[in-house]
Amino acid sequence: MGETARKKVFVTRALPEEALNILKSKFEVEVWPGETPPPKSVLIEKVKEVDGICCLLTDRIDREVIEAAGERLKGISQVAVGYDNIDVEAATEKGIYVTNTPGVLTETTADYAFALLMATARRIAEADRYVRGGKWKIPWGLMMLLGQDVWGKTIGIIGMGRIGSAVARRAKGMNMRILYYDIVRNKKVEEELGAEYVDLETLLKESDFVTLHVPLLPSTHHLINEDRLKLMKRTACLINTSRGPVVDEKALYKALKEGWIWAAGLDVWEKEPTDPDNPLLKLENVTASPHIASASYETRKRMAIMAVENLTAILEGEVPPNLVNKEVLKVRPPTT
Ligand code: GLV
Repeated sequence: MGETARKKVFVTRALPEEALNILKSKFEVEVWPGETPPPKSVLIEKVKEVDGICCLLTDRIDREVIEAAGERLKGISQVAVGYDNIDVEAATEKGIYVTNTPGVLTETTADYAFALLMATARRIAEADRYVRGGKWKIPWGLMMLLGQDVWGKTIGIIGMGRIGSAVARRAKGMNMRILYYDIVRNKKVEEELGAEYVDLETLLKESDFVTLHVPLLPSTHHLINEDRLKLMKRTACLINTSRGPVVDEKALYKALKEGWIWAAGLDVWEKEPTDPDNPLLKLENVTASPHIASASYETRKRMAIMAVENLTAILEGEVPPNLVNKEVLKVRPPTT
């Protein structure tokens, strides 16, 4: 205790109790009471006076916030695997450790990506609206609400990391041909699942389902744009459970409206929450959800616990298990 007991932590949203209790047993903890992100002015004020922050992907921890931080801020612990909301470079320069929660959400996210793929292919959300909306008039329609088969088709996975590989395993169970594109090859999925490494153009041209599993980086911003959508099959579905800005929504609207592709399943959006007037939401061939791919009871709890364990390690002078910016160790060694 002693020194540790006086350390202060700011948590930007209520966490599951088990996770919060771990922090409370060791540090002075302040939890932002709202369901929406604390305003930037609050973040700027908090970073001046705390040793650690536990945040969500909707908190914009940019250079301005990081540069406002006091000497004592040592760690930013994100409760998510993606961390494009944090200026990691600025944090490293200031000797601030940044951590994320990889691994614990992989299978849950892959479950959801596959569920969204199936829902999109088989028009499940639209069918639900059809029944509830009183449109079901004939007992059984031979040609009613026809969708696309999934089994035996070709899936194109863009980004074959942890989540992409978990989606590939599910695809294998559906007897699908698996194509993938990434900046690095993944020999394991090639050997174990027979996945084929192809260039992006081939993937887009040959896949019946294109699913995105890349982080948001300058190089992946609008990766799926008008030109690339035009390469896809007219019967193809695009599934996005990664980050909204990986897809150019304006181009996607055109593609869906004009029939360049058949449908899209979107869990993530260029702006979140997306505007209810987003034209994509007017299209029946869009299956929409509010960024919930990792949202199971078990996984969200595991993510929160992992994040507080990372933060605890940082504040206790250890190297946290999920350090994103390893170079920070040179700027500020763990015990300082
Ligand atoms: C969710 O989107 C995450 O990055 O964990």
